[in-house]
Amino acid sequence: MKNRALIETAVFPVAGRGTRFLPATKASPKEMLPVVDKPLIQYAVEEALAAGARRLVFITGASKRAIEDHFDSDQELEGLLRRQGKSDLLRQLRSVLPSYATCIYIRQPAPLGLGHAVLCARPAVGERPFFVHLADDLIDAQTPVLAQMAEVHAGRGGSVIGCQTVPRAETDRYGIVATQGRGVTQRITAIVEKPKPAQAPSTLAVVGRYLLMPRVFDHLARIGRGAGGEIQLTDGISRLLDDEAVYAHRFEGRRYDCGSKLGYLQATVAYALAHPELGAPFRAHLRSIVSQGVTAGRRGPSAQGRPRKR
Ligand code: G1P
Repeated sequence: MKNRALIETAVFPVAGRGTRFLPATKASPKEMLPVVDKPLIQYAVEEALAAGARRLVFITGASKRAIEDHFDSDQELEGLLRRQGKSDLLRQLRSVLPSYATCIYIRQPAPLGLGHAVLCARPAVGERPFFVHLADDLIDAQTPVLAQMAEVHAGRGGSVIGCQTVPRAETDRYGIVATQGRGVTQRITAIVEKPKPAQAPSTLAVVGRYLLMPRVFDHLARIGRGAGGEIQLTDGISRLLDDEAVYAHRFEGRRYDCGSKLGYLQATVAYALAHPELGAPFRAHLRSIVSQGVTAGRRGPSAQGRPRKR
């Protein structure tokens, strides 16, 4: 893939409190929720590295220390695994972050929104295009989505936003774009944050992957609070449309909304089924509980929901 190394910096806004997962996220970041055996933030970092990023900028907030610990080396644990001869685990532990990658942690001083979080990354990003990755949106793809977007940028220049069609009833959960042109990559003509279904210019939604030109920082620094009283990344991108090309790219891949409990469970099941060791026994287990469930249902409503004796 040509020019992949062009985008060196990836920004991970991880300051949100994850209230939808309380109490699980009371003392532990939502980005540390594991899908099978890796936390969401590690999937995010792996995707950025696969797209050529080398500098990883985390915009953090309260209760996010675990993310720093996760990407730091742990000499004590490594020593223990070495003494126990657990070389496989040691290798897995060391592969959490390759030595060529640099982590930078910037604290977002107040929860002023996604646009503000991205603006906090400005001193680390500089005047170069950069990725923004929202770890809640886990996307299973042949070619990592950020790499697909880097390819689009290498061909056309400008900013590129990962998009997907959503049901009209759900437009008020997303940034929604209007586009011109045809094909999987289209130029954006308008972008609006969480419009009501009746007002949405389309059903093409922004889903947590951005490749942005640095000019967006100038706009983010100037715009005021938008939807929900927050400084919205969507509003900064909207201003960018007047200056330069921004493309919506319908990426290849299956997205799981791990910011919702249902999406998180769907991701867990899909990744467990695809796991090289767990896949086969997990599939057998699912089959067996599903068939038991059907039997229980046939017994009538009174049998449902009652805890089974073990
Ligand atoms: C954010 C963005 C929104 C985007 C969404 C993707 O919203 O503001 O434009 O569509 O991420 O997941 P949030 O989900 O943080 O409310």
